[in-house]
Amino acid sequence: MDNIARGRLSGGVRVESRVRCWECHREVEDPYLDACPSCDGLLEVSLDLEPVKEMAPSDLRTSPLGVWRYTPFLPVRPSMAVSLQEGGTPLYGCAPLASDLGVKALSVKYEGANPTGSFKDRGMTVGITRAKEIGADMVGCASTGNTSASLAAYAAKAGIGCLVLLPEGKVALGKLAQAIFYGAKVVSVEGNFDDALRTIREMAAQRLLYLLNSINPFRPEGQKTLLLEIMDQLDYRMPDRIVLPVGNAGNISAVHKALKELEEVGWIDSMPMLTGVQASGSRPLVESFRAGRRDFDPEPGPETVATAIRIGNPVSGRKALDAIYSTGGTAVAVSDEEILDAQLMLGRREGIGVEPASAASVAGLRRLLDEGVADRDEEVVCICTGNALKDPDTMMSQCVRPYSSRPEVAAVLEAIR
Ligand code: F0G
Repeated sequence: MDNIARGRLSGGVRVESRVRCWECHREVEDPYLDACPSCDGLLEVSLDLEPVKEMAPSDLRTSPLGVWRYTPFLPVRPSMAVSLQEGGTPLYGCAPLASDLGVKALSVKYEGANPTGSFKDRGMTVGITRAKEIGADMVGCASTGNTSASLAAYAAKAGIGCLVLLPEGKVALGKLAQAIFYGAKVVSVEGNFDDALRTIREMAAQRLLYLLNSINPFRPEGQKTLLLEIMDQLDYRMPDRIVLPVGNAGNISAVHKALKELEEVGWIDSMPMLTGVQASGSRPLVESFRAGRRDFDPEPGPETVATAIRIGNPVSGRKALDAIYSTGGTAVAVSDEEILDAQLMLGRREGIGVEPASAASVAGLRRLLDEGVADRDEEVVCICTGNALKDPDTMMSQCVRPYSSRPEVAAVLEAIR
């Protein structure tokens, strides 16, 4: 059957996978569908992990750290992999930042170190490999920027045509430049990301292209490796909390799926509190979490300096809420000011350059600690999703914002004077 993918494991073991509706569990065979034909629910890949139960995490350590170390958890054929050697990103211990924020331990998973500078490359290597498996000759996405930069690069590597729809005037310069540079057809759409996504989904429904937004269930499969890698880097010591910026909500859902799969194979027996951070001007999930709801009302006019998460109608919003509720996590909104402060803190205290949306994770943690929602005794991992160079305009404007300079610099200047 076409929808059964097999991955070869070490020792010749194979995993099987099927695409199912996340809501009604119906199996879906048509690879061009991005929603359930019965109930319009979100799709997801279900893996038969029985063979992996015989393995231990150390069995995978013969391959380098990175997405393709985790082939037993990936529903595509590794022999067809289209890879730019994504993943294998640093997990920085951030003692100075932890002490500034007043938390026991803080690590930053720096996804800006991926080939195109964001975490999207993890999902895209798997998504494009799937596109090749099904023989697609044109791929496309709507994007706030990073997905398009990543898709453009992987489509180039695979020799597949690529169309990206971007919300007019709201994509950071570096991301726009990347998409054009890698040779994608770039079309600017009047409206916001949600409008662009609606348009490209219509094109995909007409089979004009294979859609590679995170609503495609193969994209989150690659993004699961973010969590798998963190566990490897921590030697399977579970952090208390993982904090992520949330836009379209694919990433937090993928991390949750990875946790459930690790639990299923018996490699973990607890979960971290998954914590989603949205910008105040774009926070439909925070609102619904506060109301204790499992569904949400889209926000018609999202607005934030963190353009990557300027999304009012997150397609995986229901999965994200499930991830938060079932791990005992929380959802929090932060202002643009808090985001920019956190971006500067990461740069000046830790030498870590992230784009504004990425800094939302640290800003969210700071707010939760200040409000007493997060405990100061926790060990926390913040996901920083994209590189500072993605958004040079914001970086430049940050350079003139005041930030308490280190005292020794002031002393040296005084001495020179
Ligand atoms: N951080 C960055 C830097 C992003 O680019 C995105 C999403 C997110 C966080 C949120 O992740 O959507 O999985 O909840 N960017 C998408 C894009 C929407 O088109 O590049 P999410």
